[in-house]
Amino acid sequence: MTQQATILVVGGAGYIGSHINKELTRRGYRTIVLDNLATGHRDLVRWGEFVLADMRFAEQLDLLFKTERIDAVMHFAAFSLVGESVTDPEKYYENNVAGTLTLLQAMRRAGVRSIIFSSTCATYGIPNVIPIPEDHPQAPISPYGRAKLMVESILSDFDAAYGMRYVSLRYFNAAGADPDMECGERHDPESHLIPLVLAAAAGKRDAITIFGDDYETSDGTCIRDYIHVLDLADAHILALEKLLNGGESSVYNLGFGQGHSVREVIETARKVTGRDFRVIQGERRSGDPAQLCGNASRAIAELGWQPSRSDLEYIVRTAWNWHEKDWTK
Ligand SMILES: NC(=O)c1ccc[n+]([C@@H]2O[C@H](COP(=O)([O-])OP(=O)(O)OC[C@H]3O[C@@H](n4cnc5c(N)ncnc54)[C@H](O)[C@@H]3O)[C@@H](O)[C@H]2O)c1
Repeated sequence: MTQQATILVVGGAGYIGSHINKELTRRGYRTIVLDNLATGHRDLVRWGEFVLADMRFAEQLDLLFKTERIDAVMHFAAFSLVGESVTDPEKYYENNVAGTLTLLQAMRRAGVRSIIFSSTCATYGIPNVIPIPEDHPQAPISPYGRAKLMVESILSDFDAAYGMRYVSLRYFNAAGADPDMECGERHDPESHLIPLVLAAAAGKRDAITIFGDDYETSDGTCIRDYIHVLDLADAHILALEKLLNGGESSVYNLGFGQGHSVREVIETARKVTGRDFRVIQGERRSGDPAQLCGNASRAIAELGWQPSRSDLEYIVRTAWNWHEKDWTK
């Protein structure tokens, strides 16, 4: 049954969704990508079918659910710029919370009862223990994080009341790209460290700024947990199979557990690209914790997940190969 299942990939024209769409089809699933291309790209949807639609519009969802038999939904669609969520929270609550509610309502009307949701380590806020376990208090410090936490609560309530089963996956920093270079990261504006550093290496930016070098870490710069997007893909498919096989709702951290400092990322980028670039030492940014690393032992134990591609050099190399190709198109 599971190999023939049809998966609706909402937000599958984006960075993470496009990789998981590819992996789903490679493993024999039928996929339908639904995306409004707000931040996604039509040319990243190279597998399965594509439907240009918006999850905020119930009629568009109902039409799709009436014409297709969907076994499960993977939900990547969201705006995800933390700073923008502070200056324009309405945009985030409207799309990320109200849009998700519209999607869940349409799923209920159609009798679709399984969903995998892209949550985030931003739901934890400032950690009081590293690596962060799933039962760490959730006290997000941005509207982006709060919107994700609201959706986690809605999912839990929909399970208790209506039997809708979900897996919430709290990603740390998704990074890297498809080694075949068929898809990769293309955010505009870009806010993630690795593509910004690589843009500096490619001469597409003047320099890269390090925000703070007096943190209590080995080299004074912030430490983050980078997880290769294909390791994320494996976890999604394991979570999907759990639900399709009748498993219970659950929440998992997806991180490598071992972080890397900003300086380590810069040095790795110099090594991988063979290029030097200017680094500017800036002030700390408010709200940046010194370290954000996740404890993924629950996903490893319960899902049998084995992140095997999250070595920093491999992450940076696959990202560099993708960007070099994508930037020169
Ligand atoms: N990139 C990361 O490191 C990271 C970390 C934690 C969580 N996440 C979450 O993972 C998910 C995917 O992130 P990404 O980096 O691939 O982002 P992305 O912006 O590349 O992809 C999001 C996709 O959703 C689509 N979308 C947005 N609103 C929509 C709507 N109303 N209807 C239909 N489609 C819509 C966009 O067009 C885009 O294709 C997001 O939910 C994000 O919050 C990402």
